Amino acid sequence: MHLKKQVISKTKPLKGQHMFFISILLQLPLSAVLASWSVSYKPRSMCVFERSSVDFTCSFDYPYINTLKTTKWFKPKYYQKQDGSQEGIFVYHSMPSEIDQLYKDRTVYANGHKNCSLQLHNVSKSDIGKYFFRLETNLGKFTGPGGIFLDVAVLPFRVTVTMQKVNGHIHEGDSVTLKCSTETCTPQQGPFAWYKNQLLLPQATENVLQISSVSHNDFGNYSCGLKNSSITSADEILLDVRYSPKNVEITILTSGKMEQGNSVTLISASQKDDGQYFCTAKNEMGSQNSTIITLKVEVPTSNRHFLLTATAVLFFVIAVLLVLFGLIIRREQITPKKLHTEQTPAVTEDIYENLRQSPESEESHTNLIYADLKLPSSNSERPRSNTPEGYTVIYSLLS
Ligand SMILES: *[C@@H]1O[C@H](CO)[C@@H](O)[C@H](O)[C@H]1NC(C)=O
Ligand SMILES: *[C@@H]1O[C@H](CO)[C@@H](O)[C@H](O)[C@H]1NC(C)=O
Ligand SMILES: *[C@@H]1O[C@H](CO)[C@@H](O)[C@H](O)[C@H]1NC(C)=O
Repeated sequence: MHLKKQVISKTKPLKGQHMFFISILLQLPLSAVLASWSVSYKPRSMCVFERSSVDFTCSFDYPYINTLKTTKWFKPKYYQKQDGSQEGIFVYHSMPSEIDQLYKDRTVYANGHKNCSLQLHNVSKSDIGKYFFRLETNLGKFTGPGGIFLDVAVLPFRVTVTMQKVNGHIHEGDSVTLKCSTETCTPQQGPFAWYKNQLLLPQATENVLQISSVSHNDFGNYSCGLKNSSITSADEILLDVRYSPKNVEITILTSGKMEQGNSVTLISASQKDDGQYFCTAKNEMGSQNSTIITLKVEVPTSNRHFLLTATAVLFFVIAVLLVLFGLIIRREQITPKKLHTEQTPAVTEDIYENLRQSPESEESHTNLIYADLKLPSSNSERPRSNTPEGYTVIYSLLS
């Protein structure tokens, strides 16, 4: 019994062999005679590259007492229901004139015994959608539920990075997933090729590259594509792994000896800058100290003269400034003494008593006295009565 069933499927149903089929039919179990309506698709959804070919594997069944009249594949239009209740356009039809112009020369129907497999060539973005197989007999009609969803990968590839944390930087130890996909979908056919800084990563052949614990060595530009294919690879994407400073070191650009002013780390090195140095590199992830280096600054002889001259000039300038500064201070000490004088008339009187007898005392200011107790001894420094009005404040009238 089982053997004979196999004979059926291997035998092409030719016209004029009805007697053969009838004899087989008589030997079939009741379950086969009463077989229900069914369509099975494989796979249920797929993603293929533009211009490639796709196979919809399909088989169907119906009760034996039926006579098969029509077979068809249809694709609902985008605005129609996608559940198979509306037929849309015919991708394949057992009556060829029914086939839509878009699919006429691109579909090959298997047309085997209960075999509804369909091949679709040169797919494009407009082929994206659901495809249903429908059979019609003298007694009934049936559409295979669910259909097949065809998605078309529209190039170029692109790399997307996902990690568990949302909206954060990638840190060492994080788990990161890089995915090679297109704007629409990613075909499962491979092998894929992954590149880091333009170098092929030989182990990575899937469309997903999983890094369970990212390290600073994974920092770099990643790209992906198909192996052994002319399809161009994706634009590079930077895997920006954040990490604390590593291998911090000081490099002196000059070879051993440093001439004054040549330092890369000191703005202007001199002999007093001799010593041991290290630096600390720090970022938000942490910090690290460099190794220690010893710095020895040599002052070239030609520069020594310059240095001496410069020092002499510097001292001279400082000396001049000090003198000027002294003068200014002196004057400022004198100036505010009017107030002092008024507050301490007794003291003033004691000291400048002799001024009252001075023959030079004229006008009404006869009794003016000099107020500052700390007046310089030098006569030249002593303000006179004919000085500008600013100096009048240093005199006070004693009544
Ligand atoms: C259906 O037809 C296709 C294409 O001719 C073929 O590759 C496939 O093996 C057939 N399926 C069965 C179950 O015979
Ligand atoms: C494939 O389809 C595109 C339009 O989508 C067409 O331009 C191209 O010529 C077709 N290629 C072949 C080999 O038929
Ligand atoms: C990554 O690519 C960018 C832009 O091309 C480049 O500036 C950068 O140096 C690259 N980084 C690495 C680590 O190669």
